[in-house]
Amino acid sequence: MTRQITMLTGDRPTGPLHLGHYAGSLVERVRMQEQDSSRRFVMIADAQAYTDNIGDTSKVTTAIPQLVSDYIACGIDPRKSTVFLQSAVPELFELMQIFMNITTVARTLRNPTVSEEIRQRGFEKSLPVGFACYPIGQAADILGFRATHVPVGADQLPMIEIASETAARINRMAGQDVLAIPEVVLTSTGRLPGIDGKAKASKSLNNAIYLSDSPDEVRRKVMMMFTDPDHLRVSDPGKVEGNTVFAYLDAFDPDRDKVEDLKTRYRKGGLGDVTIKKELVGVLENLLQPMRDRRIDPVTNRDDCLDILRYGSAAAREVVAGVLADVRRSLGIFVL
Ligand code: TRP
Repeated sequence: MTRQITMLTGDRPTGPLHLGHYAGSLVERVRMQEQDSSRRFVMIADAQAYTDNIGDTSKVTTAIPQLVSDYIACGIDPRKSTVFLQSAVPELFELMQIFMNITTVARTLRNPTVSEEIRQRGFEKSLPVGFACYPIGQAADILGFRATHVPVGADQLPMIEIASETAARINRMAGQDVLAIPEVVLTSTGRLPGIDGKAKASKSLNNAIYLSDSPDEVRRKVMMMFTDPDHLRVSDPGKVEGNTVFAYLDAFDPDRDKVEDLKTRYRKGGLGDVTIKKELVGVLENLLQPMRDRRIDPVTNRDDCLDILRYGSAAAREVVAGVLADVRRSLGIFVL
């Protein structure tokens, strides 16, 4: 018998998705969608986003329909993947509340991703309880669907570890396999740099190309891209390593031979930055134009975006309610 594959991923709704997200996990989600034997869940983690944005809820609420719009654009099909809103599945929080009795405070805080986030947000002296516990919430997100595969970037490894430990612990306590042990599907083939050449494309650094950018914005951003600062004249030999244009060509141009040829010519000298940038604009337009054609506008078609979430959240609730009942029963938790 083939094991049931269940994929689950989530995104915090804090802004529009960019090419870094696409190269990271979106591409893998769309690929897994074509496997008939798998079940797929894509979650907008709004409750997790509030753990560090409670003073700026409009940032989260604006990003929710925007995220649905981005999903549709990049090919996530709500008929094949259950797209839902975390806060619309209250069973996840009931499950989290049980898991809080399984994990220790020390274990939850022994997490390099969370430590880094605490530093970045200045939470060292005033750590909100909700933020400290979000990895437990994330364990509930994953185990609540008996997810077997979680496609995420390397920074999410510590979260999946806590989820696996929690599942193993509950299975041991119950003396049976109540929960599935999740597996990470590492998706980042290396981080996509920002257009300024900084290590990471991110919204806060304002150095990302968004999936929702217009052709003009894409062209403007590519023309600003960091290349090789020593490549002053077209005839000079240029450096490919650390050159953002080539990092993007590597990530998005399906024609590998052409990219290799461009690299050779750029290294030799005689190939100008504007030429390779125009090449990249073409490659990105080939990727982004079909996304624009598929996109549902998050403002003018807000209701359609929310309907997708309503539909998906109802289906998600049924699944998690079943798992919650199993967990309660297997641990002997009283149910009135
Ligand atoms: N922590 C993830 C992020 O910051 C979002 C997330 C929440 C998630 N719950 C999840 C990812 C469950 C995978 C599985 O992007």
